[in-house]
Amino acid sequence: MAAQIIDGRAIAADLRRELGPRVAALAARGIRPCLAVVLVGDDPASRVYVRNKVRACAATGVDSRDTVLPAQIGEHELLSTIAGLNRDPTVHGVLVQLPLPPHLDAGHVIESISPGKDVDGFHPSNMGALLAGRPGFVPCTPAGIMVMLERSGVALAGKRAVVIGRSNIVGKPMALLLLQRDATVTICHSKTRDLPALTREADILVAAIGRPRAVGAAMVKPGACVIDVGINRLDDGSLAGDVDTAAVKDVAGWITPVPGGVGPMTVAMLIASCVRAAELAAASEASD
Ligand code: GUN
Repeated sequence: MAAQIIDGRAIAADLRRELGPRVAALAARGIRPCLAVVLVGDDPASRVYVRNKVRACAATGVDSRDTVLPAQIGEHELLSTIAGLNRDPTVHGVLVQLPLPPHLDAGHVIESISPGKDVDGFHPSNMGALLAGRPGFVPCTPAGIMVMLERSGVALAGKRAVVIGRSNIVGKPMALLLLQRDATVTICHSKTRDLPALTREADILVAAIGRPRAVGAAMVKPGACVIDVGINRLDDGSLAGDVDTAAVKDVAGWITPVPGGVGPMTVAMLIASCVRAAELAAASEASD
């Protein structure tokens, strides 16, 4: 039987609609959530991602402030731009689009973002909160995947989950979120031996590899839920995920498409985090 397609665009649209009353409640108090996006250089893929984020903000009643800095900018100047956004009470979320040019230390830059405005959830204090199971901002891609799993009725407790990829942005936080929901989690990576033997055991398989169609049908357990995080541009200009969707959809129970799967969910979760940042800032101001 063909897999059920998990429609990320539709779930993301529902999420944005659900944010409406919260945005209206803030507006009634004279607050409009605002996301500041900082882009360094002119990487074409990053420009597209930033444009999508800014558009989604506008569609949800969230302000955005877009700062584009030259690729050669020094770390000191970038850090002082971020410090200005940290201080600005009208800015609730600060996001520095990654990757940064190689002369900049992404760790330093991320650590300079105020944890209360770190809507990406990349600051060590938010990463630590996730590890400890405490409240904090959670990276948007894995957070969005958890919502897709929940709203598709995919059971997690006691299930085998395999995450391919160990980045701080996707793989590691994904594994922690699945663990929080009582899945038995394995993280695989480039040095993993006999990857197909592990992926074939997965009830939930998350592919964040960065290689087009790297997950074939022979790597998937029949009936599994396959989440495709990859967005790879092929030579002919078309997009492909990390999963060979055409083949895997005949084996899997659920599958996310590319485009229209994880990507829109990442953006929707970012907006949700920005609204939450504005709510928390308003609450802390009210209690001062
Ligand atoms: N580059 C790729 N994904 C992301 C993301 O979720 N946030 C930021 N800031 N940069 C990225």
